[in-house]
Formats: sequence, C-alpha cells, structure tokens
Amino acid sequence: MIRAKEYNIPNTFGIPACARHYVEYASEVELQACLPLKGPVLHIGRGSNLLFDGDYEGTILHSAITDITDITDMTETSETAADETWLHVGSGMVFDDLVAYCIGKGLYGLENLSAIPGEVGASAVQNIGAYGVEACQCIRRVEGYMTETGIPFALDGEACHYGYRQSIFKDSLCGRVAITYVTFGLSRRFVPQTEYGGIRQAIEASGLDIHTLTAEALRDIIIDIRRQKLPDPAVQGNAGSFFMNPIVARSHYEDIRRKWPEVPHYDVDGGHVKIPAAWLIEQCGWKGRTMGRAAVHERQPLVLVNTGGATAREVLDLCKAVQKSVQERFGIRLQTEVNIITSTLPQP
Ligand code: EPU
Repeated sequence: MIRAKEYNIPNTFGIPACARHYVEYASEVELQACLPLKGPVLHIGRGSNLLFDGDYEGTILHSAITDITDITDMTETSETAADETWLHVGSGMVFDDLVAYCIGKGLYGLENLSAIPGEVGASAVQNIGAYGVEACQCIRRVEGYMTETGIPFALDGEACHYGYRQSIFKDSLCGRVAITYVTFGLSRRFVPQTEYGGIRQAIEASGLDIHTLTAEALRDIIIDIRRQKLPDPAVQGNAGSFFMNPIVARSHYEDIRRKWPEVPHYDVDGGHVKIPAAWLIEQCGWKGRTMGRAAVHERQPLVLVNTGGATAREVLDLCKAVQKSVQERFGIRLQTEVNIITSTLPQP
C-alpha cells in the first residue's frame, strides 16, 4: 500500500493539481484495510479523462490490482454464453495491455478499443467506446467496495445501467465506490467490426482483405488511425474527447438538416439521432482556434488541448465559449465527456 500527503495528481492535461491524501492499494485486503474513508474521495485511473479545477481537498484512491484470471470454469454455465471466456481483471491494469493480452490469447471483442488511454476500472465507469464498440458489450460483472462503508458489491452488466459514456458509477454511485475487478466476456471467434467511419477505408488502403483480416491487423489499423487523428498527451496535454456527441430528438435533427443538408449523423433509435460534436464545433469556426493557452485541436475539434502551461480556468473558459457558440447556432447544449473535478463542489 502506498499512502502519501500533498500528492501531485497525474493527469494527461498536464495541469498541476495536488491532493490532500493519496492511497494506492495493490489487493482487496489492502483496500479493505483503509476503508471506510471519510471526506471526499476520488478514485482515479491514469488521469486521462479528468480536469482538475484546483487542488483536491480529499483522498485520491488508485488501484494497483493488475492480475488476470480466466474464471470461465468457475462460473455457472447458465451465466456464460457458449463460446465465451470470462476474464476477471484487476482494475489497475492498463486497458490497452488488456486488449493486447486478449488478442494474444485468441480472445476477441475489445480490438476496436485499442490504444484508448486509461485503466480497466475507469473503462467500466466511463463505458469507453470507439469505432462502433463500447466496453459494456463485453463487461459481465463489476466488483468493488463502497468507500463510505467498506461494504463489498458486485453488479452484473445490466445492473451497471450502461449507456453512451454513461453508467451507474457516474450516476447514483458517483464518488462512492472503489472498483477492484471487472469481468469481461470474450469470444473465441473473431468477428471484425469495420462499419464505423474510416476503418473499412483504412483496411482497403493498407491493401488488406476484409475477409482474411486478423485481429492483430485490425488493432494496428486502429492504433494508426488514433495516432493520426488524436494528439499525443505526452506532446500536447489533453484528455481525448472533451465533449460527448450530443443525442437529439429526430425533429431537432431534421430542423438542422433543412439548413445544413450535409450534417453527419448516426441513428440511435426511432426518435433520436447522434450528431458529431466535432462537426458542430467546426461549423462554429472553432477548429484550431486558441484562447489563452488552451486550444481546440486542429484535426479533431472534439479535443481541447493545453498548448503549454494552460490553467484549468483557461480550458474551462474555452469550453464555455465553445458550448455557447454551439448552443446559439444549433440549440444544442454540449455536455462534457471529461470529468471536471472541483472538490469544493457538493459531493453526491
Ligand atoms: N468531424 C468533423 N470535423 C472534424 C472531425 C470530425 O466534422 O474535424 C465529424 C465527421 O463527420 C466525422 C465525425 O465528426 O465523421 C466523427 O468523428 P470521429 O469518427 O473522428 O469520432 P468522434 O465521433 O468525433 C468518437 C469518440 C472517440 C472515439 C471515436 C472513434 C466520443 C465523445 N468520442 O469521436 O473517443 O475514439 O469516436 O470511434 O464519443 C474519447 O472518448 O476520448 C475518444 C477519443
């Protein structure tokens, strides 16, 4: 167990923030030993989806549980689909290491989530997604402890109430749990998901045949696309998509389409349509624009970047300015995808 005071919180935005206390646990026993925790608690992964608006006057928790166990034979046969392998994965494992591990073992389902920064625990909170796949499609169980009481919990995938970048851990359980293990159900059969924008073209461009494509090759293609589109936090601070893609009523989408017939969109269900925030932001003229030391990325306007030495205030001012433009022009309120942490905010 690692305990520290006045801890500099790692975050990919590269904006300094300090926590009053830091606790890192490497096993469930270590976690149990420090629960219950008083005062505000924030469980972090790699800080790749966080923006700290000031120091954190509470405890930062971090999992260093990184073991993987195949529990297929230990589960009720009624629970697992016929060809599924269940992996019980420590929440502190780097998510991309899990993707690589699965592909190496011939276990499929996570390949499209290659190269997403962060750890396994955070993937279950955030329901990370990319290229037509969301983590919840493979999440079968999430286990952990309530930080206020030390009581353990285990939720099956359905009970996690997953939606687009949404889960019970961002809602009623927000700030109240420490996730220790996530169980993933992986398939032994590789079915490439290539329908989402850009993948099929990238496969064709690299001279590969969709029918003989391997999971390794698909992973390489996705890593390549991400590298081309998204800024590397090691070079320019950022937390990936700063905004979520808004889901609007179909009638609202139709109104926009009358004026901008080219508006890109994805059908969500009969009554709702998802519109790329990147397109809305670009239409408002923000692509590549700088405000103070924060900027809207020049290739992917969904991403806000720290051009060097930006404060959280500068990023948030830019965020508000972008939200205001999109609201005024399209009547859509962009929601942030990045979690903005202000420890003076009332804790849920
Ligand atoms: N677009 C523009 N202008 C641009 C860039 C994009 O108009 O400069 C439009 C295009 O129509 C494009 C569309 O936006 O087709 C969608 O862009 P893209 O496929 O690059 O992805 P996204 O919808 O903007 C989402 C996720 C990403 C994920 C990609 C790939 C969210 C908030 N973001 O972005 O996730 O990698 O899809 O599937 O859903 C993250 O969460 O941090 C993240 C990077």
